[in-house]
This record gives sequence, structure tokens and C-alpha cells, in this order.
Amino acid sequence: MHIPEAVIAATGLHTPDETISNAELVDSFNSYVAKFNSENAEAIASGAIPALSPSSVEFIEKASGIISRHVVNRSGILDIDRMCPDIPERPNDQPSILAEMGVKAARDALTRAGRDPSEVDAVLCAASNMQRAYPAMAIEIQSELGIEGFAFDMNVACSSATFGLKTAVDFVRSGQARSVLVVNPEICSGHLNWRDRDSHFIFGDVATAILVERRDRAPEGHWNILGARLKTQYSSNIRNNFGFLNRADPATANASDKLFVQEGRRVFKEVVPLVAEMILDHMAELGIERQHLKRLWLHQANANMNRLIAAKVLGHEAGPEESPTVLDTYANTSSAGSIIAFHLNQDGFEPGDRGLICSFGAGYSAGTIFVEKSY
Ligand code: COA
Repeated sequence: MHIPEAVIAATGLHTPDETISNAELVDSFNSYVAKFNSENAEAIASGAIPALSPSSVEFIEKASGIISRHVVNRSGILDIDRMCPDIPERPNDQPSILAEMGVKAARDALTRAGRDPSEVDAVLCAASNMQRAYPAMAIEIQSELGIEGFAFDMNVACSSATFGLKTAVDFVRSGQARSVLVVNPEICSGHLNWRDRDSHFIFGDVATAILVERRDRAPEGHWNILGARLKTQYSSNIRNNFGFLNRADPATANASDKLFVQEGRRVFKEVVPLVAEMILDHMAELGIERQHLKRLWLHQANANMNRLIAAKVLGHEAGPEESPTVLDTYANTSSAGSIIAFHLNQDGFEPGDRGLICSFGAGYSAGTIFVEKSY
């Protein structure tokens, strides 16, 4: 039986207009800290509660490589009496904001591929946080775009996009679909605890999309997929307990475990070797030598983690050409990070050149997708 080849036909990107610089973020956070400490001066003096410590721009830049982030709504985040995005609920007859962002990224990918939505057979919404339980966000995106066929949501946290990509590849290879849209709308500002000094700087908002197609219908300049591998290993070191049985109002200070929490140091120590080994193993299986790997489009977790993983894979310190980062302007955008890096950094690739799209994050979860510029 003939198995059709699946390729990446195009990618798309939607970047929210609003931004918050580290200086603005720290200024707001430190005003909150000063207010909290002054309002609780007695309890702090008696030792009943600890005083809060201020954040610093220097720490954020050194620990993460982040300088600024895009967000859907900055005023709510910077308001020290709120400290979460102000995104009003919309009536059911209006498009939801997560779907709206996904549709913008999807349209970008479709336009770049010259593909009409009517020619797409499936939509996967693969992201860390869905706006609601059901109907699936993917079905709303499918409807907004006017796509026939089927759609469903998947959540594998920071690895959602690569897991979605591999799923799309399998649908194409099995003959179930000719073109599959994988959409990654990430409103990370909604799951971040902006009152938590250890993590308040980490995330930003964005949406990406990937169009996976049968090779015989894909446009020129597509990317062949040499191999795709997925891995998960249970860990609570990155966790969010929010769910339909555990709700909390993010506008209240006691919501902390219903938002993103992590043991940052343990994540760093455990995930770097796990991902580096997985990449090297997969390379060996595919017979790809490190000197034949032109670029790594890594999950944009933080600059130090990416630097270490790239060095272990390439055998030397990677330059920006070899392992580009978008952390400075986008911050960590969960599953969308490696796709933004891929989307924005394809210069200099000749037919036959090879690269790696790689995700890692909560679960733990990791995905490695080796690609080759088509002839
Ligand atoms: N501003 C100023 N200082 C801060 C601070 C802030 N916002 N947050 C923490 N600090 C201080 C701490 O209090 C600590 O001070 P101390 O040494 O006097 O106790 C010091 O900075 C180091 O804190 P620590 O939490 O140990 O920082 P770190 O160097 O481990 O960096 C992370 C923190 C999260 C950036 C780092 O662990 C990391 O990159 N982890 C990977 C996890 C990740 O990226 N996850 C995303 C999902 S994939």
C-alpha cells in the first residue's frame, strides 16, 4: 500500500499588539509589594507573615533572557489591584478570543501556502490552556474558517504544538486527511500568577499555526519531515491545578495553585538532560550527524536552558544562527515558542538543509521533529 508523505506546507503567526517591558512589569510588581508590605506591616513585624521581596529587571534578564512580552491585555496585568488580564467574557454568539487568535494565525499559514480553507480536512487546536471545556476550540476555529471534516483539541502543555504536528502527520500518512491545520493559541497571561516573584516574568501571549499536507499537494519551499518522536514522563514540577473540579478566581491572591507553578531549579536540572538525550538518540536513529544539522528551533523556555541543550546537541556553544531565540521579545509562549522560532528564522536554508523543531515542558513532555528543506 502506498503511504503518502506528510510535509509542513507553511506556518502562520499572530502577535498581539500590546507589550509589557521588564521595566514596566517590575515597576508594577514592586508597587504591589510595597502596598502589601505597608498594609500588612503589623503582621510582618510580629512574624505572622513574611514580607514580600521586590523583583528586579537585572534578575529577569539574566535568569531568562526575556526583555519584553506581548500580551492580550496589559492594563489588567499592570493594575496592582487586579494583576491578571482584563478579558471580558463574550456572549456565545461572538467568536471566543482564543479561537479568534487561532483563526488569525491559521489564515496566515493558509495564505502563505496558497491553500483555500475548503481544501483542508481537519483542524487540531493544540495548546496549554483551552478557554472552555466544550464545544472544542478547534471546532469553533474550523467553523470560523469554513472547513469541512473534523476538529478536536489537544493539550500537552508546552509540547502541544509538536504533539499536534505529529498527530497531523499521522492523519496525512494514514490517508485520513490531505491537509491538516494545527493551531496553537497561547494566552499564557491568563494562567500566570502575576503576584509570584519567581515566575511573574516568564510568559507572553501569541498564536501560531502549522499546515501539514500531503507532499503531492504542498507548495514549493515546503519542509519534509525526516522523523518525529514524542516522549512523556510524569512530574509535578510544572503544574496547574485549575480544572472543572478545582476553580479559583485568578483575580484573588489565594489562587496560586490554580495557576502556573513550578520548581524552576528542578525543571532546569531534569529537563535539560532528558531533552538533550532524546534529541541525540533520535539523531542516531535517523543517521543525522550533528554537523549536518543547520539549525535548532527549540522551545523558548529560557535562554540558559536553550543554550545548554543546544551545546549538548551540537557539541559546541551555539550562535544565534544555529539556535535562534525569540525570548527577548516574546518571552516563553508555551507550545508556540519553537514554532515562532521556526517561522521567523528560515533564512539561509537551501534544499536538503536540515533542522530540528523541539519542544519540552510540563508533563514532562518533549517532542522532536527533524525537518529538511525540500528540493
Ligand atoms: N527578582 C529578583 N530576584 C529574584 C526573583 C525576581 N523576580 N525571583 C527570584 N529571585 C532571587 C531568589 O530569591 C534567589 O535569591 P537568593 O539566592 O538570595 O535566595 C535568586 O534570585 C535565585 O533564585 P532561583 O529561583 O534559584 O533562580 P534560578 O537561578 O534558578 O532561576 C528560573 C529561576 C525559573 C529562571 C530557573 O530555575 C529556570 O530557568 N528554570 C527552568 C524552568 C522554566 O523555564 N520553566 C518554564 C516552563 S518549560
